[in-house]
Amino acid sequence: MSNIKIAPSMLSCDFSNLEKELKAIDHAGADYIHLDVMDGHFVPNITFGPPVVAAMRPHTGKVFDVHLMINPAAPYVEAFAKAGADIISIHAEADEHTHRVLQQIRALGKKAGIVLNPATPTSVLDHLMDDVDLILVMTVNPGFGGQSYISLEDKIADIRARIDKTGRDIDLQVDGGITDETAKLVKEAGANVLVAGTYVFKDGAESYADKIRTLKEV
Ligand code: DX5
Ligand code: ZN
Repeated sequence: MSNIKIAPSMLSCDFSNLEKELKAIDHAGADYIHLDVMDGHFVPNITFGPPVVAAMRPHTGKVFDVHLMINPAAPYVEAFAKAGADIISIHAEADEHTHRVLQQIRALGKKAGIVLNPATPTSVLDHLMDDVDLILVMTVNPGFGGQSYISLEDKIADIRARIDKTGRDIDLQVDGGITDETAKLVKEAGANVLVAGTYVFKDGAESYADKIRTLKEV
């Protein structure tokens, strides 16, 4: 049994039929449902907010992995928790008091994630390892699906070593440009949760299960 989890990003699904897409991706074997929240300010694109997450919630029992690309995130984490998020991840650069926001997320009974942009150094984790349940390494600049993978295997391996040192079960997630080819690289470097949008959704619902299986097995 593979210990790799796949988190399809709903950013690449058919937004006109979220119920159908959620059910299809659930049945296809998704582990987490990755939800990309963008504010048109922290990143140059706008997606959706808590009401849409709440509307999606009844259609699957899978873990809602909410990736907040918003600045600031602090004023909104409670609304996303109430909407049904299970994991809430914030970018290292999005809030002045990152540590406080991570504590705020845990106090709401949710798992807390920290996100590193491609250029964000791993040293931002130095004093946060006890406060995170998930670390997300961006392998594209956030804002859009369908971009090319940026090779950051050294960074992923560095974070894997930091996680192993804690002895805690912290997810190491990678997001951006994940395909059957790049999945291999990030897994070898130590990632255990793979986000994939374009690769999973691009050929329609009949292929979702195959795509998820391929990402797990390569
Ligand atoms: C990008 C988002 C990603 C995006 C990935 O800012 O965080 O989750 O949906 O899309 P692909 O897999 O197409 O790179
Ligand atoms: Zn994402």
